Amino acid sequence: MKKRRPEPSHILLKKIVGVVGLCVVFALCGLGAYGITTLFYNHTGYHPNDLVKALVHSVLNCMLFIGVGMIISFFTMSRHRGRFQPLIDALRRIAKGDFRVNLDIKLANEWGELVDGINHVAEQLNEMEKLRQEFISNVSHEIQSPLTSISGFARALHNERLSQEERKRYLEIIESESKRLSKISDSLLKLTALEGIQHDLERKRYRLDTQLRALILACEPQWMAKEIDMDIDLEKVEIFADEDMLSQVWTNLLGNSIKFTEAGGKISVKLETVNGEVLVKITDTGIGISKENQERIFERFFKADPSRNRANSGSGLGLAIVKKIIDLHHATIVVESEVGKGTTFTITFVQTA
Ligand SMILES: Nc1ncnc2c1ncn2[C@@H]1O[C@H](COP(=O)(O)OP(=O)(O)OP(=O)(O)O)[C@@H](O)[C@H]1O
Ligand SMILES: [Mg+2]
Repeated sequence: MKKRRPEPSHILLKKIVGVVGLCVVFALCGLGAYGITTLFYNHTGYHPNDLVKALVHSVLNCMLFIGVGMIISFFTMSRHRGRFQPLIDALRRIAKGDFRVNLDIKLANEWGELVDGINHVAEQLNEMEKLRQEFISNVSHEIQSPLTSISGFARALHNERLSQEERKRYLEIIESESKRLSKISDSLLKLTALEGIQHDLERKRYRLDTQLRALILACEPQWMAKEIDMDIDLEKVEIFADEDMLSQVWTNLLGNSIKFTEAGGKISVKLETVNGEVLVKITDTGIGISKENQERIFERFFKADPSRNRANSGSGLGLAIVKKIIDLHHATIVVESEVGKGTTFTITFVQTA
């Protein structure tokens, strides 16, 4: 946002001119009061004593000063109202949800900053509105495709001439698409919950190697089914972190490695401490990620290849959740990958007491 703070000497000069102006007006009112009272005494021949004269003169002086002040403020107020009307209109538009506001008016001092502030707020709200709409359209799109499959195959099941195998296959598709829908909703809920968390992680001290080993074992059916060679090298390391959240991180990363590695490939998980930092490296010999896509994989709903087959399909929320949790732990996640060769995700935690 542009800064338009005027020079302090400028403000001081304005204040001095204002005070001098008020003194001049007061003195002129005094002269006027003197003229009126003199005219009155000469005309009526009534001459009170000096104290009364001074009192009458002071009262009249003040009344004239107040009167002149009211006339001046009446004119300047209506001019100010005209000047501020665009600001009031802009705020009303913002309040109604129309963020396409760009005030192009020049006002001095703090008022100029207020104009810049309103423009800035409108710009930010406009950005947020675009993100919100993009998010809604992504969610609708993600939900739409499993729903279309479910309703299509459910309708097809009405056909009584279907063979037993076909019926079984359709039911399996309906089941897997329902699971996909439920996973999308689960991931969205997790992401929303994570967005709400400020600093209240439930950190505790626990053995990271034990956690990783247990999770690798838990997904053994998946990697065994693809005959993936799992190579584990885990140093005994204690970490101070939110165990449940990190469990989500490892599950998502291992899940991706298994999903994107061809049958017979290899995955290695390495845990070590280097210069007081805890490093977790998850490497696979899978399909890899292009340089261009590496910059986008942590975005919500991003999928490098959205046309993947049903078995590989996901919602593109897994890594967004991972990134959010890693950020909450003030840790880092780095991806290195080569298309067709494989991918390594390295997570680094700075050890805290
Ligand atoms: N180990 C990996 N190897 C190759 N590509 C990967 C790997 N991990 C992630 N990707 C790419 O990054 C994209 C985003 O990953 P992410 O985990 O966020 O989504 P997803 O796995 O498609 O869906 P979800 O995790 O929500 O089920 C993936 O669609 C994939 O293209
Ligand atoms: Mg994933």
